[in-house]
Amino acid sequence: MIGFLGAGRVGAQAALEVASAGIDDVTLVDIASGLAEGEAMDISQKIAETGVDVDVRGSTDFSSLRGSKIVVITAGLARKPGMTRMDLLEKNAGIVSAVAKEVAKHAPGCIALTVTNPMDVMNYVVLRKTGFPKGKVVGMGGILDLSRFKSTLCAMLDISHSSITSLVIGEHGESMLPLARFTSVGGVPLTTLMDETQIAQAMDATRRIAIDVISKKGATVDAPANGVVRMVKAIAWDRKEVIPASAYLEGEYGVNGLCIGVPLVLGGNGVERILSLDLSEKEKAQFSKGAQTIREGIAAIQGSL
Ligand code: NAI
Repeated sequence: MIGFLGAGRVGAQAALEVASAGIDDVTLVDIASGLAEGEAMDISQKIAETGVDVDVRGSTDFSSLRGSKIVVITAGLARKPGMTRMDLLEKNAGIVSAVAKEVAKHAPGCIALTVTNPMDVMNYVVLRKTGFPKGKVVGMGGILDLSRFKSTLCAMLDISHSSITSLVIGEHGESMLPLARFTSVGGVPLTTLMDETQIAQAMDATRRIAIDVISKKGATVDAPANGVVRMVKAIAWDRKEVIPASAYLEGEYGVNGLCIGVPLVLGGNGVERILSLDLSEKEKAQFSKGAQTIREGIAAIQGSL
């Protein structure tokens, strides 16, 4: 069973896709009365017609998470136009602390997949509050940033999405680090197809794109839900897929004691391996800037941890 803690826009969309793909049974939990149950009914009625046989339930009762192999945490407040992810810090730290304890109580053997923003700090809160081993707590952000980088590059190069292989690491926030040097266009290095100015434009657009979507439709939903589903599949099917995601670092990338986006191998055991990269001085500086923002975020809520 896959649990979804938070049945709002991203949680419900990801649950719909997980159930529709027949990955496993789904249970949704949300404090808003009737919401998780209503979403479960709606999803059940959709998959009934398409012939997928998984069980989808919803309630306000955290104990229904019992038996979940993965719990996707989207509970919390979302950004409004003009807000940064860090503006959500204090309120979401309280919500995520509370729900993480429920995850540890009812699904102690699960892998926790953090989505709530500011995601890297919330992933650290989940790690601390569940007391889970570091490999069992992972955050979704890098795969979404990567999908945005890909989308930007494909539009600029007028090339198929399927031709781009790339990486976006670092903070899931203003200091994210799209890695042009590690980007290939069908095997051809991106750096031979775009000059520095064009690459800087693509990186900048990738950082700004979410707030543009939020200002137009009120929230980002489809691309984040896709990121969640990619990660759920990698874990549920033990795919050992290399995905950029937020993990707890103990010395890797020169960082200690916080969660941040890195390329990692995601499989049935959660974070199975962190892959290292030989970053340039400029890339290291951007990665460190993101780590510092996360460190400051953790320090600001330290009293409640
Ligand atoms: P939403 O407002 O549609 O849904 C959030 C849900 O959480 C609501 O239904 C609310 O009732 C529920 N909730 C609040 N407190 C709860 C509690 N204590 N227990 C259980 N449920 C609770 O928000 P949306 O758009 O689904 O976004 C959810 C979170 O994910 C936000 O923090 C948002 O910023 C973040 N996000 C992160 C992304 C990422 O890449 N990591 C991408 C998109 C959104």
